[in-house]
Amino acid sequence: MTPEHQKGLTFSIREGLCIEHKPEPCGIVIFGASGDLTSRKLLPSIAYLSSKGLLPKRSFVLGVARTALSPDEFRARAKGVENVYYMYGSYENPDFFLALKARLQELDARHETGGRLLFHLAVPPPLYPAIVEQLGRAGLLEGCVSGGCSRVVIEKPFGRDLESARALDAQLKRRLREEQVYRIDHYLGKETVQNVLMFRFANAIFEPVWNRTYVDHVQISVLENAGVEHRAGYYDGSGVVRDMFQNHMLMLLALIAMEPPASFEADRVRDEVVKVFRNLRPLAGRDLEDHVVLGQYEGYRLEPGVASSSSTPTFAAMRLDVDDWRWSGVPFYLRSGKRLCCRSTEVAVVFKQVPHSLFSPLLPEHLAENALVFRIQPNEGISLTIEAKKPGPKICLGALTMDFDYAEAFGERPPEAYQRLLLDAMLGDPTLFLRQDAVEETWRFCEPLLKTGDIKLEPYATSSEGPEAAQRLIARFGRRWR
Ligand SMILES: NC(=O)c1ccc[n+]([C@@H]2O[C@H](COP(=O)([O-])OP(=O)(O)OC[C@H]3O[C@@H](n4cnc5c(N)ncnc54)[C@H](OP(=O)(O)O)[C@@H]3O)[C@@H](O)[C@H]2O)c1
Repeated sequence: MTPEHQKGLTFSIREGLCIEHKPEPCGIVIFGASGDLTSRKLLPSIAYLSSKGLLPKRSFVLGVARTALSPDEFRARAKGVENVYYMYGSYENPDFFLALKARLQELDARHETGGRLLFHLAVPPPLYPAIVEQLGRAGLLEGCVSGGCSRVVIEKPFGRDLESARALDAQLKRRLREEQVYRIDHYLGKETVQNVLMFRFANAIFEPVWNRTYVDHVQISVLENAGVEHRAGYYDGSGVVRDMFQNHMLMLLALIAMEPPASFEADRVRDEVVKVFRNLRPLAGRDLEDHVVLGQYEGYRLEPGVASSSSTPTFAAMRLDVDDWRWSGVPFYLRSGKRLCCRSTEVAVVFKQVPHSLFSPLLPEHLAENALVFRIQPNEGISLTIEAKKPGPKICLGALTMDFDYAEAFGERPPEAYQRLLLDAMLGDPTLFLRQDAVEETWRFCEPLLKTGDIKLEPYATSSEGPEAAQRLIARFGRRWR
């Protein structure tokens, strides 16, 4: 036990309640190895796993792309990783995939990886079906290499609406089984997001109040001060609903709203997530004006790569309802946008006020509500605000915050999401990856928000809190954004 005292919070970490699995040696094959995601996230995460002894020594990394890098150039990008190789060629050429197969057989024999292959498709999504098809034709997806198994990791977006998400899945399933597909929503790899599950289901004291009787409302905010930066081309074709709501925001909502799974087994957890999505009250047929605000920051249309008449929303705020026994009548307010006043991702569970204030003759103001806040990033942690008596002879109440700060408590910043997700994909644990039914349910829900023109686009000033209409939306239901 290591007791520490900080900010008035006594805290101890008990050694022993840890599960750490180490994968079997495997070959990690990265398509798009010359790209941004590979350099910024994948290679550093593999290096981290290697440094922590979580990447077996006999594993290897093979980078694949069209760009003619020398193996040494690629190796230099993979600082700290051993057994790194590179090959380039055209994905349209079936011979390239036969050469890839021969290379993998050779590397598998050299490093004794037992035919275990992890393909990570770090390429633009339209390329997924063609690459998977070629891998399948070359016999690389079905334990072709010394009888091992193959998994394929793909990056969001998984389609751009329900129809295209289904079409993508149908193409992938020509060659893959569902259990071979690992769809990354990197938010799920964040420690602080996973901690929502630990917090809820490893502590007995919160679950009894986690329902409509005690919770007034929930707020989920993903605020960015950055604009579209170098992603303008992609972003202008997508917008905030596709980029943030269909995946990260709804996933956060699901973790807060889901019923306790019977076990931490992947499909038990994912079943409960999907049930939340199915229980979301459809926006179709609701008064969208009352429940949804879309906005665009001033100057967005002047950004390089953005169409001068663009109607792409860069901000959205909405009220959602989960129509089930636990949450009936509890509104969930979600908002996310770019070029806002701050950078902050948090989930706040705001509790109801006391039913009767015995202090009311002395303290006419309302007592503040208790709020439990999960700070996803930055300043990762959890805080609980409570009312407390201020010292002195007068009766004087004030809000007090009990704070758990991740970096202070553990002496380090939370690890990168990709470190965890790559490890899980190697281990064959899909708990933190999206199942196709969840992808489809979230697209189904978002469909009414994707029809441009159905909802008025509100302009907002940069470095603001978003459009005024977002303040009015929540005020209409008697609440305010935190
Ligand atoms: N970057 C991020 O932070 C981030 C975050 C979330 C999701 N993602 C997703 O991760 C994937 C990769 O992202 P990225 O930012 O690394 O992408 P990227 O840099 O645009 O592309 C990755 C690589 O794909 C290859 N490529 C590009 N266009 C191609 C084409 N038409 N045909 C064949 N190859 C092509 C290029 O390599 P060669 O030309 O050398 O083959 C490029 O280096 C994408 O699906 C993206 O949506 C990225």
